[in-house]
Amino acid sequence: MTPESRVIGLGLDRVDGPAKVTGAATYTMDVTADGLLHAALVRSTFAVGTITSIETAQAEAAPGVVAVFTRHNVPRMKKPSWNLLTPPPPVPLQDGSVHHYGQYIAMVVAETHQQATAAAALIRVDHEAAGASLSLDAPALKSRTNPYFLDAKRGDAESALTAADVVIDATFTTQANAHNPLGLFSTVARWDGEHLIVHDSTQNPYLIRDSLAKVFSISKDKVQVLAPYVGGGFGAGLRLWQHVILTAMAARAVGRPVKTVLTRPQMFTGIGHRPATIQRMRVGARRDGTITAIDHEATSTAAKVANVLYPVTLTTPATYRCDNVRGRDRQVRLDIPSPAHMRGPGEAEGNFALETALDEVACAIGMDPVELRMRNYAKVHPQTGLAWSSKALDECYRQGAERFGWAGRTPQPRSMRDGQWLVGYGMAGVTYSHFQAKCQASLTVRDDGTVLVRSGATDIGQGTYTVITQVAADGLGLDPVNIRFELGDTGLPRAPQAGGSGLATALSNAVHDATVNAIEALLASASADPASPLHGCSARDVAVAGGRIHREDDASRGETYVAILARSGRSELTVEGSSAPSRAEIGALLGSFAVSRMGRAGRRLVEATHAIAPAGAFAAHFVEVRVDPQLGRLRVQRMVSAVDAGQVLNEKLARSQIIGGVVGGIGQALFEEITTDVGSGRISNATLADYLVPVNADVPDLDVVFVGEPDSDNAVGVKGIGEIGLVGVAAAIGNAIHHATGKRLRSLPFTITELMD
Ligand code: MOS
Repeated sequence: MTPESRVIGLGLDRVDGPAKVTGAATYTMDVTADGLLHAALVRSTFAVGTITSIETAQAEAAPGVVAVFTRHNVPRMKKPSWNLLTPPPPVPLQDGSVHHYGQYIAMVVAETHQQATAAAALIRVDHEAAGASLSLDAPALKSRTNPYFLDAKRGDAESALTAADVVIDATFTTQANAHNPLGLFSTVARWDGEHLIVHDSTQNPYLIRDSLAKVFSISKDKVQVLAPYVGGGFGAGLRLWQHVILTAMAARAVGRPVKTVLTRPQMFTGIGHRPATIQRMRVGARRDGTITAIDHEATSTAAKVANVLYPVTLTTPATYRCDNVRGRDRQVRLDIPSPAHMRGPGEAEGNFALETALDEVACAIGMDPVELRMRNYAKVHPQTGLAWSSKALDECYRQGAERFGWAGRTPQPRSMRDGQWLVGYGMAGVTYSHFQAKCQASLTVRDDGTVLVRSGATDIGQGTYTVITQVAADGLGLDPVNIRFELGDTGLPRAPQAGGSGLATALSNAVHDATVNAIEALLASASADPASPLHGCSARDVAVAGGRIHREDDASRGETYVAILARSGRSELTVEGSSAPSRAEIGALLGSFAVSRMGRAGRRLVEATHAIAPAGAFAAHFVEVRVDPQLGRLRVQRMVSAVDAGQVLNEKLARSQIIGGVVGGIGQALFEEITTDVGSGRISNATLADYLVPVNADVPDLDVVFVGEPDSDNAVGVKGIGEIGLVGVAAAIGNAIHHATGKRLRSLPFTITELMD
């Protein structure tokens, strides 16, 4: 029962493209409602301390103002359930204590956005500020904690380092980054009696639903969360944030719908950020290139409230065949807004240290960096000894190097020039573990020949609408124009977060399952009917094509879905589909990553997410940089990214995902850094003018090649590629800079002053 012409993989245009370019797509910010009010949030201007008085009379009297909320009139609300991966924020406006700059201390609700904003400026606040701990400096580092017991150990790294021919011992730092999705995070809430309806910029509508039900002490079925379009997330949308709670609270209090749209500066304090890290990486090797020891110690910043799990060393033990590996993750809790997962969370930082150190080993022993990686290639998962579900990292190296022209690299630093430019070639490998969570979908075949597929997932720009349309069309042997896919609604079958590079795998397999179930149900109906040409057929005997089931041995004998429905007197047929990570995966995982590293917290993590797949996606990035040593100018000239993505669902969108990730990686490498005023904790570059991200002039032609085979671990063969494009870019660029200049840069973002001779 296989489809005869494959739709999966084709580079179809986005099915939601026309709605987006014509403005018909309704993002949360676009949602309107009768009697809609607009909220503006007032934030603390200091990091730690107490609000001693708050004067709201002027704001309350301002034109259009309907209500002003402070801790004095906000009802008590319950804490949302705690969750290891997505800890909820403290319930806002419950007391006068302030835990970070930008914490919400008041909310104004008015007839218009402008009136709310103007009135918010009239609120007067007195406070007593206390000393704040704001950066990863030496005193802060003394208070390092080990909150999740993430240590990994195999063999004896310390002894192996002592015995190694070559030891690299280096410290790496990375700065805090902002997610900066283009779409300002927004919430629209309205109450219909005891029912709460919320539109939200989220990557996980079900988390928002379940959390709000808890906060307002109502049952989950009384809360509906809608997110049909989300203007980007990068991880910021994986958690419940305080403005969502406040918007729902206000809507209930004033008895009208309320909309909150965060300002860009509020996006820097209210929806998380990539934490800063400091890492010590030690790698020991023999002269022949055998890596004998890896010791990776990372410290990342965390908030004192709403701390998030952010493992930086998690992937290191799974990356190379090496007998002696140690990983330690620590956190320093600061008086900062809560960090959050951000594209390639922890992996992007950890990979930067590991893949730079590998380059340093290659230089120290005079071996080609690609050869060094192949010399230590992990054919099996090095932590468990189990075979990978699939792994074509070797092909990533081979094909990436060939497309890039790596053979033309002369090994000596500063040996390649083009006029005033020093030219450098660098590369890095990427091993990426993705999450696959449980997922459900429904599929309805209608008597007009169309099919409706539904699941409450989100498409935050990655292309879910399109690829799932393709999966359904492929499974049913239909033209994609006959398929409609509805998502972004907790009224639909439950889907997991668009995060952890796991949604495409979870959802495509659930929908694939639904197509199998639909064909089986239709076939059962036809097979039982002596008048049907499919009479007596089982699934093994048939194929599907053109909206029709036909006999495998005689394509002329078959029936369309429409005819089968008509024969059975039904106008439509609805089936369910589901997917879950394989039990083997969970078992392998329980034995390796999670439980051995994290004890009981690991078990909870596995239960919460259902599994972290021991399967992985893999990639290699090759980059050419040009450095003008007089001015410190740096140009990324070109890049080739070779990615083992398993079964690509849509060649065009997958390529787009990787390109987007690589651009994010260029940002992390060269530009992005949240700067914080050490006195107040104020973020001093919280606008898109001041916080630098790559623009077109910074991004060269990016070449992407997909290698490998469909993954054996799931029916569709998918691997997650939402994050892998970003991971590895910083190391590849840094390694290219070293090749161009002889300078080894270990601090992100790389700066001009470090590049000048
Ligand atoms: Mo991603 S950090 O799982 O949105």
